[in-house]
Amino acid sequence: MDRQVNILGFAGSLRKGSYNKVLLREAARLVPTGAKIEIFDLEGIPPFNQDLEQSVPDKVKEFKAKIRAADAILIATPEYNYSIPGVLKNAIDWASRPYPDNSFEDKPVVMMSASTGMLGGARAQYHLRQVFTFLNMHPVNRPEIFVTFAPSKFDEKGALTDETAKELIRKLLEALVAWTQRLKKEKG
Ligand SMILES: Cc1cc2nc3c(=O)[nH]c(=O)nc-3n(C[C@H](O)[C@H](O)[C@H](O)COP(=O)(O)O)c2cc1C
Repeated sequence: MDRQVNILGFAGSLRKGSYNKVLLREAARLVPTGAKIEIFDLEGIPPFNQDLEQSVPDKVKEFKAKIRAADAILIATPEYNYSIPGVLKNAIDWASRPYPDNSFEDKPVVMMSASTGMLGGARAQYHLRQVFTFLNMHPVNRPEIFVTFAPSKFDEKGALTDETAKELIRKLLEALVAWTQRLKKEKG
């Protein structure tokens, strides 16, 4: 029997009422049997400064340790100015350093996005895919999840109400778990 797949999830938004944080919490609820999602909040990660690479802030140490311990990564992010929010890119930059201590090395990854716009964060996701290439991560390609016009997909309490999005999240997590197990078997 395959052992439990541990997934680390984080959001590219610090906002309390973040739609993307809701997507993460929904994912933790919809995760298939045999897998578990731990959510990490990027709040408190300072701006990256290469002068601090040898005396890394505690919050960054904690982030890197959790990434290392995880079998797979889940990112839920908004799109800021047609790209990756600074908060997310900053956290990724920290966790990829100091060279060659890239915590993301060889990790399976999936992403999803919610935005108030009509493309649902698609441009941020394609920029993020580019970053995965340098990090040597292994993204799942399908399904893609873009929650468009976010205010219409969440209720007044902030819960996700869109059944299509829920179904896609379920499918994406199934694909991530299968992909993670396949990569593990290939590595032996
Ligand atoms: C600095 C900034 C830039 C933004 N740029 C975009 C954008 O390029 N495309 C888009 O669809 N929404 C954009 N938005 C709107 C976000 O989609 C919206 O604020 C969303 O709720 C953020 O995600 P969150 O709810 O997880 O915090 C931007 C918002 C901010 C604050």
